Amino acid sequence: MVRRNIKEKRLFLNTNLGKSIQETKIIFICVGTPSAKDGTVDLGCIKEVAEEIGKNIRRPKIIVIKSTVPMGTVRNLVVKIISKYWKGNFEIASNPEFLREGNAVFDFLNPDRVVIGVNSSETGKVLVKLYRKIKCPKIITTLESAEMIKYASNAFLATKISFINEIANICEKEGADVEEVARGIGLDKRIGPHFLKAGIGWGGSCFPKDLKAFRQIAGMDGYNFRLLKSTIEVNNYQKKRIIGKIKSLFPSVKNKKIALLGLAFKENTDDVRESPALEIAKKLQRLGAVVKGYDPKAIENAKKVIGEKAIFCNSPYQAVKGADAVIIATEWRQFKYLNWKKIKNLLNNPLLIDGRNLMDPLKMKKIGFRYIGVGRNYEKLN
Ligand code: UDX
Repeated sequence: MVRRNIKEKRLFLNTNLGKSIQETKIIFICVGTPSAKDGTVDLGCIKEVAEEIGKNIRRPKIIVIKSTVPMGTVRNLVVKIISKYWKGNFEIASNPEFLREGNAVFDFLNPDRVVIGVNSSETGKVLVKLYRKIKCPKIITTLESAEMIKYASNAFLATKISFINEIANICEKEGADVEEVARGIGLDKRIGPHFLKAGIGWGGSCFPKDLKAFRQIAGMDGYNFRLLKSTIEVNNYQKKRIIGKIKSLFPSVKNKKIALLGLAFKENTDDVRESPALEIAKKLQRLGAVVKGYDPKAIENAKKVIGEKAIFCNSPYQAVKGADAVIIATEWRQFKYLNWKKIKNLLNNPLLIDGRNLMDPLKMKKIGFRYIGVGRNYEKLN
């Protein structure tokens, strides 16, 4: 897409910020806003770019902040920094992005909504026009509401996952199957079917960072955001819970070979930031197990985190060879279509721990696996 648009002279790339600022009407700030050590948002890049914009503006512009920033950052920080250097007029907007990793182009072009936070309705109209080819509701809000919509969306989605994970844990006790429960509740339009996949917890570069930041922001403003705290706590517990399950399956996991299918935080990405798979790997290594990892894309990144002691394999079959258990830790769809009969024969012990409820438990049982999922009770069924 980038190559095509460069060729067709719609996209120009350069490292001369002054030139880009002077030649354009609308400037998007899309820099990263990582977590600082104390969980607050590191706004260093935002500050730097705002300063550069302030120094290089020569005419009024619309400056749009796409980066995820705490409420009030656009009005109180970005505007102030730019105004320090540029005494003329400029407009400001907050336009959060909701795309998912691995689906970035599709999500950007097919969003459920475009959120435009502005100070003036004129700026809102210009940005609505900019997005005119994208067919979806465009909502105009205040700057602070737009900033809040981004945090609230991520918090809600993560809460939905933590909720179903807790339901899964109760299902294990009550003899219910969380996959059936999720389908049953998700068909209620008020609940909806998405983000109800139980598993070993959520990770990635957004949910963990944004939820921590949101908790911090609320706390600093004197509000105890109880539900958000629980959402984070449930997620931490979910990652630990699977280790408890593994421990209970062996007298000792020391020197046991464990095959880990999936290292990325989710499918279709090589990103391992806050990946539940790697947390499991680290804990297993601490317990003295030998981790044999396979991932279609994330091996290089995983090496940097669990490198020294882990064995990385070029195929899932190599990973499971001689292993005492196999764990599905990432929801890569292709794992579903592996030759599971072959996997069973390659394993030292036919134990399948499905951390993403990817497989059909009865089929797995038929092949001869001992199947342990999340929130499923197929051990008891024939
Ligand atoms: C997320 C938001 O979805 C996106 O709108 C925002 O812009 C950035 O953060 P992303 O981090 O790419 O996107 O991943 P997402 O697909 O949301 O998954 C996040 C985590 O939740 C993954 O670890 C995934 O495995 C897990 N997940 C997701 C579940 O455990 N169950 C589900 O039902 C959905």
